[in-house]
Amino acid sequence: MLPEFYQFQLSTKVLYGPGLALDFSHELHELGASRYFLISDQVIQACGLVDGIAERLQEEGFTITGKYLDVPQDASVTCVEAIAAQASQTGAQGLLAVGGGSVIDAAKAANFIFTNGGSLIADYSGAATLAKRLKPLVVIPTTAGTGSECTLAAVIYDQENNTKLSFSDKFLLPDLAVLDPQMTVTMPSLLTAATGMDALTHAVEAYVGVDASPHSQALGQLAIAYITRNIAQAVENGGDLTARGAMLIGANLAGISFSHSMVGCVHSMAHAVGAVARVPHGIANAILLPHGMAYNLEECQEAYAGLAPLFGADANGRHAGDAARMAIESVKKLTAELNRICALPIRLRDAGVEKDMLPLIARKAEEDGTAIYNPRPVTAEEIMVPLQNAF
Ligand SMILES: [Fe+2]
Repeated sequence: MLPEFYQFQLSTKVLYGPGLALDFSHELHELGASRYFLISDQVIQACGLVDGIAERLQEEGFTITGKYLDVPQDASVTCVEAIAAQASQTGAQGLLAVGGGSVIDAAKAANFIFTNGGSLIADYSGAATLAKRLKPLVVIPTTAGTGSECTLAAVIYDQENNTKLSFSDKFLLPDLAVLDPQMTVTMPSLLTAATGMDALTHAVEAYVGVDASPHSQALGQLAIAYITRNIAQAVENGGDLTARGAMLIGANLAGISFSHSMVGCVHSMAHAVGAVARVPHGIANAILLPHGMAYNLEECQEAYAGLAPLFGADANGRHAGDAARMAIESVKKLTAELNRICALPIRLRDAGVEKDMLPLIARKAEEDGTAIYNPRPVTAEEIMVPLQNAF
C-alpha cells in the first residue's frame, strides 16, 4: 500500500572513496568558502586523523583558521557555543567536522549560532526554526553508525538540565559528506560492532516505521544488506577496507532512510536505557533490536518476511510468520557472533542494567519522542515484555 503523501529530500553531496579524506579539496570550490574551522575530538586527534587533513587542505590553498578538538562523548551545549565563538573569532567561513556522530552533531548545532548568532536553546530547539541556508559544513565521519553526515537532526546534551535536546531542520544537512573507509580503520572492534548495530537498527526501524515511504524503504533495505553482510568482518578484521567501506555506505544509507521516516521502539528503549543506566547507544540498540522486532511482530510480519533474505535467512517457501521469525533469529545469531568476536553485550544485565531499573526504563521508553513512530503503540506496561526478555 502506498502512503497518502510523503517527501524526500537530500541536499548533501556524498563522496565515497578510500583515501578521499586527503583528496577532496577540489570539491570545496563550489561551496564558496576558503577558510574553515575544524572540529574533532581527542581520540580522533590521537589517531592522527586530523592533522593530515588540515595539512593537505592548507597545501591546496585553503586556510584552517583554528581547531576545536575537545568535543565530549555526548556533544554538549557548552562545546557547541565554544565552537561557534571560536569559528567566528578566527574569521572562518565554513565548518569542517572530522569524527563520529557526536562531533558531527556538535558542528551542525554550532552552525546555527556561527551563521545567525543567538542562543542555541532559546532560538533553535525543536524543528524547522531556520528560514535560510547556514554557512558551508563539510563532514568526514570516522565511525559507521549514526549516519549523521546525511541526517537533518542533531542531538545535544544540555548539562544544566541533564537532558538531551533535539534539533531538526533541513538546513542542518551538511553540504558535503566525505565517506573514506580509511578514516574508520582505527575504530576499535567493540565500537565498530556497537555503531554498526546502531546503523542496522536505524535501517530496520525506518523500514517498518509509521512514516516509512518507498524511498526510505529502498535505502533501508540496501543498508540492511550491506551491514549484515559486512559487520562481522569489519569487527574481526578492522583493516579490511572493503568491509569498512560497505559499513560506511550501509550506515549512510540507513541515516538517510531514518532521517525521512524516523526510528521506533528499539530506540525508545535504548534512549531510556542510556538515560537510566548510561548504556552506550549502540550497545543498547544491539541488545534490544531482536526484542523490539519481536514486540512489533504482528504489525510487521509481512515486512520482516520480506527482509528475511537480507538478514541471511533462508526463508524461501515459508509462511510470512515463519519467515518473519527467521529474520529475528538471524539478528540474534548476528549479535551472538559479535559477542563471540568482541564481547559485545547481548543482555541488558551484562551492560550494567539492574532488574529494578526496568519499570523506570519502560516509563521513559513510553515518553520517548521516537515511540510515536513505532508501528505498535509503546506503553510502559507492554514494553516491559521485550525489556524483560532482553534482560
Ligand atoms: Fe541510533
